[in-house]
Parts: sequence; C-alpha cells; structure tokens
Amino acid sequence: MMRGGEFSDSELVDQMLTFLAAGTAGALTWCCYHLCIEPDIQEQLHAEIRATIPSLDASVSWQDLEGMPYLNGVCQEVLRLYPTVPMTGREAIRETTIAGKTSPKGTTIALCPQAINRNPEFWGETADQFLPERWIDIDEKIERQILNKHGGASTNFAQIKFLHGPRACIGKDFAKAEFRCAVAGCLGCFAFS
Ligand code: HEM
Repeated sequence: MMRGGEFSDSELVDQMLTFLAAGTAGALTWCCYHLCIEPDIQEQLHAEIRATIPSLDASVSWQDLEGMPYLNGVCQEVLRLYPTVPMTGREAIRETTIAGKTSPKGTTIALCPQAINRNPEFWGETADQFLPERWIDIDEKIERQILNKHGGASTNFAQIKFLHGPRACIGKDFAKAEFRCAVAGCLGCFAFS
C-alpha cells in the first residue's frame, strides 16, 4: 500500500486502524465477555488449551491450534454471534433483483451479519445459543473429533461475518488465524470473570 502510492498517509493510518482495532481486538473482547457469562465453556476451553500447550514456554504450531476442536468451535461461535461488523451497506450500481424484489440503480441495501448469523431459519432453534459443539463432528473411523466448516447450517451464506464476494474481508484467513492464537494465549494463561 505504501509503495503503490495510491493512499495518502492519513488514509494509510485509517486502514491500519481497521486492521488492528476493528477486527481481532473486537472479536477478542466479545470472546472474553461471553466466556465470563458462560464459565463452564471457559473451563472446558482452558482445559483443552492446557492439555495441548502445557507450558507457557512451549512452542505452538499450526497443527496444535488446528488440533483443538473446542478452541476452533469457540472462535467460530464468537464470530457468528458477535460479528465485528454487525451491519453495513451496499449501493446498487445498476437495477438489480434480489429474492424476487427489483431495486432501481442507487438503492441502498442494508446487510446485517448480526441478523443473518442468528437467523433460526438457518441455525434452528438454538440460533441464539453459544454452542461450540455445532462446529465439531465425530469421525467414527478414527474415533476422533474433527472440525466442520458449516456449523450445521445448510449454506455458507448462513453466516456473513466476513461478508462474501469481491468486497468481502481481505484479511479473513489472517484474522481467523490471529484470533485463534490470541484466544489460546489469553484463555490458556488467564481466567476471566
Ligand atoms: C475478526 C476479524 C475480522 C472481521 C470479522 C472482519 C470483517 C470484515 C467485514 C465484514 C468487511 C466488509 C465491511 C464492509 O464492506 O462494510 C471487512 C472488510 C475489510 N477487512 Fe476485515 N475483518 C476482520 C479482520 C481483518 C484484518 C485482520 C484485516 C487485515 C489484515 C482486515 C482487512 C479488511 C479490509 C482491507 C477490508 C476492506 C475490503 C474492501 O472493501 O474491499 N480485516 N472485514
């Protein structure tokens, strides 16, 4: 971004603030909040982290983090129930039809991850509940818990925490990896109340 010369210094500062503050810091805050109101989940998460990373000096690999189903489930539920961008908008650049409704060019369309991600039509009666287990399957052949990518919903569009399409979050994979590390670090070392 700096070399490309397309951004002024103040625009670069704005972008950096988005990277650092708007994404992972918000998610980590909501994670701590939720684990305070559900201490049983916090305890189970802490136990999994300490079983995988017993010592604070131990090095932590990608496989270690990927191999903690409950940690991954907790991170997914935080981003589903407390999306960092709860609501945003788009403007139709031409006349368009969405779900049978035609909107003229220039129409502002509200996108609401907060509502979609908790919609019982996609998530069933437990839509509002924090259930890390919905992201975990059992592989009976190897008798182990494995992660699933859908949380039990029938479509990937049931959650739009990073949005989808060409203007979705470009930091998505980085953010998910960073968030998982941050949760493992904080919840492995501290108890929150
Ligand atoms: C949990 C963390 C994060 C979440 C939930 C998240 C979510 C989102 C969402 C929903 C948008 C679309 C906003 C809109 O168009 O109204 C967005 C855009 C963006 N995100 Fe993230 N984000 C996160 C972290 C990050 C990180 C760590 C980076 C950078 C390393 C990043 C970089 C960006 C950029 C550059 C855009 C603008 C993309 C564009 O307009 O084409 N995000 N993010």
